[in-house]
Amino acid sequence: MKDTYLDLVNGPFKQVAKTLGLPRPVRLQRFDSTPEHYLSAPVLVLGTSPGAQRIADRLLDNGFEVRRHPGSGESLRAVIAVFDDAGVPGDLSATALEIGASLRTLLPCARVITVSPAPRPEDQDPAPAAAAQAVTGLTRSLAHEMRIGGTANGILLDGVDVDAASVTAALWFLLSGKSAYVSGQFLTVSSAAGEEIGAREFLATGGSGPLAGRTAVVTGAARGIGAAIARTLARDGAGIVGVDMPQAGQALAGVMNEVGGRTLQLDITADSAAERIAEAAGSEVDILVHNAGITRDRLLANMDASRWDSVLAVNLESQARINAALGERNLFARGSQVVALASTSGIAGNRGQTNYAASKAGVIGLTAASAREFAQRSGTINAVAPGFIETDMTAKMPALTRQVARRLASLQQGGLPVDVAEAIAFLASAPARGINGSTLRVCGQNMVGA
Ligand code: NAI
Repeated sequence: MKDTYLDLVNGPFKQVAKTLGLPRPVRLQRFDSTPEHYLSAPVLVLGTSPGAQRIADRLLDNGFEVRRHPGSGESLRAVIAVFDDAGVPGDLSATALEIGASLRTLLPCARVITVSPAPRPEDQDPAPAAAAQAVTGLTRSLAHEMRIGGTANGILLDGVDVDAASVTAALWFLLSGKSAYVSGQFLTVSSAAGEEIGAREFLATGGSGPLAGRTAVVTGAARGIGAAIARTLARDGAGIVGVDMPQAGQALAGVMNEVGGRTLQLDITADSAAERIAEAAGSEVDILVHNAGITRDRLLANMDASRWDSVLAVNLESQARINAALGERNLFARGSQVVALASTSGIAGNRGQTNYAASKAGVIGLTAASAREFAQRSGTINAVAPGFIETDMTAKMPALTRQVARRLASLQQGGLPVDVAEAIAFLASAPARGINGSTLRVCGQNMVGA
């Protein structure tokens, strides 16, 4: 649905909104396949560790203009703050204050990216654990302070160093317009798995894109977020098999014609779903996106069995059953990558959505618990939790609730289906194979359902 307020404050009512101190969301800079767009302004790399220098060298090798000290007054595309050697909380202050000193020179839709050890308090001594956790608080708060479409996110190093392939891939994702609606979030890299990718290859499309040569099955592909996922994965080079209910057959055929994909009319709750998916994918499943989902909202006091059971069956149990059946019958290809749709409702809960939130929280648990099994096949399983996304589903919300939901995000707007699709395309790619079992929120740092 169109966000008329965003159009007005970027047009005729710009000055009025400024004078009245009203929220002024900016148009986010989304994917642009021209590398020059990202390479045209300098990136400041802060931190004194050898890891910080290696990240700076990697950016230089990929054609970025790199600065190592703040204060030049130049307009910056991004700041990368590397805290990989923070042993005590006091180690953070110099770099944190340098980030602060550079914020006023950031371009619109700029990025701040922190790189730090993953907090693992159970395995760490108190001081490094405190330092690691402190970086997450800094990053999340800074995301709330970013202006004009800027974001702040973190890369967490969980037993890997900054040279891991997925750390580089995460940097390209977070620096690019593919992450326009991701803010206040963390990508945890937990293994050195993953293929090395350069910044230009990461932005390439079609036959040279990051998913070239792979086949992706997308459930619920007839409309909304699923259709955007099909388009984005196809843009990145994947062949698509779109799955949806027989009654959505015509819409599904329309989307598949557009992306040159194949259709599979199937209710994913059917007993034979896994076999039919494997057959449609050409015997083995490589990329699988569990996107199909439904809502049947009611306060729990008014909930009936059919609403509860249908939501759990479509959103959670079908994912679990299909994963298990494909796994048991060896129908997942080696290196297969699964991405599941969760929701911020599954993280924070939402009034009227006990059934939906249970299903989506369940997806997060299922994903984390399945990671080890996927790693044994050199594959991954991750989830994406969208916040408020402009779709048919959210267009049905009461107008005032919709306005409030949009403005309560740090980015002061709803996301677009393509924002969710970009995160999925990244997590489904071979360079991201060092990220496993995680859930990435795509919510503009929304405080509703957060
Ligand atoms: P949508 O309702 O527009 O599309 C869902 C698609 O899934 C439809 O084409 C539908 O026919 C298909 N589908 C439903 N049940 C199916 C079944 N049993 N078998 C096969 N296909 C089935 O939904 P939307 O908004 O595009 O959401 C997509 C996913 O993203 C869902 O899992 C939803 O829960 C999740 N999500 C959406 C958010 C939003 O703001 N729109 C926020 C958070 C999560």
